Amino acid sequence: ENEVHIEDVAFSFEGPFGTFDQFQLQRGLQVYTEVCAACHGLKYVPIRTLADPGGPELPEDQVRAYAAAFPVNDPEANNHLIDPATGEPRVLAPMDKFPANNAAGAPDLSLVAKSRAAFHGPYGTGINQLFKGIGGPEYIHALLTGYEESPACAGDYDTGYYNKAFAKGGIPDGCKDEAGHATIEGSWIAMPPPLSDDIVTYADGTPATVDQMSMDVASFLMWAAEPKMMARKEAGFVAVVFLVILASLLYLTNKKLWAGVK
Ligand code: HEM
Repeated sequence: ENEVHIEDVAFSFEGPFGTFDQFQLQRGLQVYTEVCAACHGLKYVPIRTLADPGGPELPEDQVRAYAAAFPVNDPEANNHLIDPATGEPRVLAPMDKFPANNAAGAPDLSLVAKSRAAFHGPYGTGINQLFKGIGGPEYIHALLTGYEESPACAGDYDTGYYNKAFAKGGIPDGCKDEAGHATIEGSWIAMPPPLSDDIVTYADGTPATVDQMSMDVASFLMWAAEPKMMARKEAGFVAVVFLVILASLLYLTNKKLWAGVK
């Protein structure tokens, strides 16, 4: 794997009290639906969870309309959605999961925000992850904003697209030194640059820059991978408060029990 540098992003859901921004999740859902879903499935995410508290919180009727409008463009990968009566893919309903999509050989995105890391080290200790988080959403943001002109050393190499955040793709020999180490950041990825300014139109008027859409879809994919994150943090907070109270009571009990013994 080649070296890459990934910028930290201050996402709203980070830190012990961080929460998902409902409107950002809705924008991210729109980017996923209108852009990424052409190639990527989201096969572990039930569509009905779009209405759940702590998520995009779409009203139930909008979730039904969303499911019904979602194209099933790879019936092979979603054969359970084929209506036995007609042999045609049936319309999705909220209780269905988002379809898988194997048509372009792109990985499913249900868990990608947790299966990729942006921060490591120093020296293999992982301390950076403790302070900055694992960095899955940062990685997605960096990847989507990481496309650049192919560097000169690549010559006419055209197996994929040069991306300075993608570590595990091919690198042309011209961009390696004598020892075989890459002389550039990143590598070539099979995914064509999916985003360009204004490729979607946000209903809330947020300018649809590549940077903004990348952050929105990264947040959405974080929610998809960990929809109960806010409930987990709340339970953790309650547990800490409980332990503080319990510890004080035990301390006082201990004092009282041993008060007579000098
Ligand atoms: C790979 C996200 C749109 C095709 C990936 C990866 C992510 C991702 C996170 C994994 C990279 C890794 O392995 O570390 C997205 C997002 C999109 C989007 C968020 C929408 C904004 C698309 C579109 C296509 C596509 C429209 C097809 C035209 C691929 C392919 C790969 C890939 C083929 C595998 C690349 C490789 O391993 O070389 N994408 N993608 N993606 N994506 Fe996308």
